[in-house]
Formats: sequence, C-alpha cells, structure tokens
Amino acid sequence: MMTVLVTGGMGYIGSHTCLRLLEAGYGVVSVDNLCNSSPLCLERVQAITGKTLRSYIGDVRDETLLRRIFTENDIQCVIHFAGLKAVGESVSKPWAYYDNNLNSTLSLTKVMGEVGVKRIIFSSSATVYTAGNPMPLKEDSQTGGCTNPYGWTKYMTEQILSDIAYADPAWSVTLLRYFNPIGAHESGQIGEDPQGIPNNLMPFITQVAIGRRDRLRIFGNDYPTPDGTCIRDYIHVMDLAQGHVAAVRYTMDNTGTEVFNLGTGRGSSVLEMVNAFMSATGVDIPYEIVGRRPGDIAVCYADPGKSQRVLGWTAQRTLTDMCRDSWNWQQKNPMGFGR
Ligand code: NAD
Ligand code: UFG
Repeated sequence: MMTVLVTGGMGYIGSHTCLRLLEAGYGVVSVDNLCNSSPLCLERVQAITGKTLRSYIGDVRDETLLRRIFTENDIQCVIHFAGLKAVGESVSKPWAYYDNNLNSTLSLTKVMGEVGVKRIIFSSSATVYTAGNPMPLKEDSQTGGCTNPYGWTKYMTEQILSDIAYADPAWSVTLLRYFNPIGAHESGQIGEDPQGIPNNLMPFITQVAIGRRDRLRIFGNDYPTPDGTCIRDYIHVMDLAQGHVAAVRYTMDNTGTEVFNLGTGRGSSVLEMVNAFMSATGVDIPYEIVGRRPGDIAVCYADPGKSQRVLGWTAQRTLTDMCRDSWNWQQKNPMGFGR
C-alpha cells in the first residue's frame, strides 16, 4: 500500500483529503501542531471510513520529528497543507507567517531530500495571481504583486519548490492553486471550524443561520459586476479532496514542477451565494451592505481546463450541494469541534 504524509492533516482541507485518500486505498500519516485544529476530526475520519491512519502531533518545522516520521513510516509522497492562512492576520503578524509558512517548507524539503522522498504536493492559492489578469485565470496567467504577507508566502513557496525540482531532476513538485473551498463531508461529521469571527463568507453565513451572529455584512456592492458584489469560484471541499487524490497519482508518475488550478470555472457573487444558501436550506440570512474590504478584487475564477486534461479531474458538486453540506455540518456541530 502506498503511504502519503499529510502535513496539516487535521485542518479543514487536510482532514477531507485524509478521508478521500483512505477511501482510495492509500495509507495516511498526518502531522499537525493543533494551532488551528482539533484532534477530534481525525477520529471522526477514521469512524466514517472504518480505516485507521497514523497521527503525529507536532510542528513541521521540527526536523527531528520529521526524521522520526520518515523513519517510522514508508512514505512515498507528501501533501503539504500545514500553514497559517488568515490574510488579515498576516498583515499584522508578518513574521509569524513567513516563519511558519516558509520554514515549514524548508524543514520539510530538507528532510525529504535526506531520506530520498522527493514527491510533494503543495497547497497554493489563487491569491498568487496578479490583480488585473483577464478572467478566467489560467496557470500561466501572471503571478506576483501580492497584496499581503500570506499571499507572498504562497508565491515564495511555489518558487522555492520549483527551484528545488530544477536543481534535482528526481523531484516531483505539484503546485495546486485552490480557489474558494466551502462545504463539508456529506456526513456532517467534519467541516470548517474557524476560531473567533470568521473571515470567510460561507462560515459567516452558516454562523448567522445558526444564530451565533446577527447578520452578514456584505463588503461592498459597488464593484463592476452585475449585482455589484464580488465574484468568486466556490468549490466543494470534497471535490478539492478528490483533486488531491488525482494529484498524488500525477506526482508519482512524473518529475519536475507542474501547477494546476483547482476551481470549478464558475463565478458566483456574494448575493448569489446568500440566495443559494437560503434556497438550499430554507433559512433566512439577514444582511447589510457595508464598505469594501481592503484587498478584495472584484472577480476571481479559474480556468480548470488543464486540471481536467492532465489530472483527469473536474469538480462535480453544485452550489446547492456546497450550501447544504456547509449547513449540515454547522447544524450538527453548532460550536464546531468545540475547541
Ligand atoms: P487549516 O488552518 O484548517 O489547516 C491547516 C492545518 O495546519 C491546521 O490543522 C493547523 O493546525 C496546521 N498547522 C499550521 N501550521 C503548522 C505547523 N507549523 N506544523 C504543523 N501543523 C501546522 O487551513 P485549510 O483551510 O485546511 O488550508 C490548508 C492549506 O490550504 C493551507 O496551506 C492554506 O493556506 C491553503 N489554502 C486554503 C484556502 C482556503 O480558502 N481554505 C485557499 C487557498 C489555499
Ligand atoms: N465577504 C463578505 N462578508 C464576509 C466575508 C466575506 O461580504 O463576512 C465577501 C468578500 O468581500 C469577498 C467574498 O465574500 O467578496 C469571498 O470572501 P472570502 O473571505 O470567503 O474569500 P476570498 O476570496 O477573499 O479569500 C479566499 C481565501 C484566501 C485566498 C483567496 C484566494 O480566504 O485565503 O480566497 O484563493 F487567498
């Protein structure tokens, strides 16, 4: 059985990916320092799948721990999710973001090189694309000019990994640029569990729906879009998880660096999302329009054609599925994992 090391395996996307990897027959080893997660989630992944995985609690920057993990397990490929991801926080705490996101990658690839495991899939983001590109975004659209330290860590990590693969042709580096993951596993047992006030749209909507927040604030309705609110490419987290299974196959079969968009290719406005949520769930979402949020761009959606052609992957789930599954998770876990 082939075994995959998943860093950040207890996080939102990591836990759903662990679940799909187990279902697809892979062995899974997770390492997570619990800085934004609960150990409950991988217990639930094992309960849902009826399969076991191995979980280490610790930091990816800890090279001694990494050496132990590679010694104790026969790992062939790594998916590197671990990192800090709050755009606004990265502006006020740049050092923490550069330290965590860059040093985790440097420690991880250093130890991978030592033990001869040279296959890595990295969680990048649509945020690496330069504002002002024509839509939809293609993998060769312009990147850089990021507007916050978080975005720069993704941009820099892409560069670091590409340089490593260039220097040693035995490496296989797959860079996955996610668009806007939402939704949850259909069981409602695992899902996104933000701490404090959610930064992202869907967790905010579900917390309004469950009564934890009184209303949604929509950041601007004066953008150059049909209804004036921003347009994003929302993708179901289970489709994203399946994209990682496809990426593992690709990364095992190829060397060098390749980059893929993981999005649906369809853009939805904030108001469309609110309406989609209300019609999928029957729950009213009170909202008010407030000023624009600094750093937001009007429109962002993927051209997923390369992922379809090369990885053989396309997103299957609809906006209704995404809203229903986000709400199912929120209703079954009103306070998330209760951290
Ligand atoms: P998340 O915070 O839920 O998961 C990240 C996990 O990594 C958490 O469980 C956290 O405890 C762990 N972690 C952080 N630093 C660590 C370290 N140094 N050592 C060990 N564990 C550590 O976030 P997510 O939404 O699942 O995102 C996963 C990855 O995908 C991140 O790299 C993120 O930047 C990237 N990404 C996310 C989105 C999104 O909208 N969710 C979009 C684009 C890219
Ligand atoms: N929005 C609101 N009210 C809220 C939250 C969000 O109106 O309370 C709006 C935003 O202004 C934006 C849209 O909803 O127009 C989506 O916002 P999100 O914060 O959910 O998503 P972003 O597209 O801003 O950011 C996401 C990830 C980033 C990543 C980026 C690009 O959070 O990590 O996609 O991949 F960098």
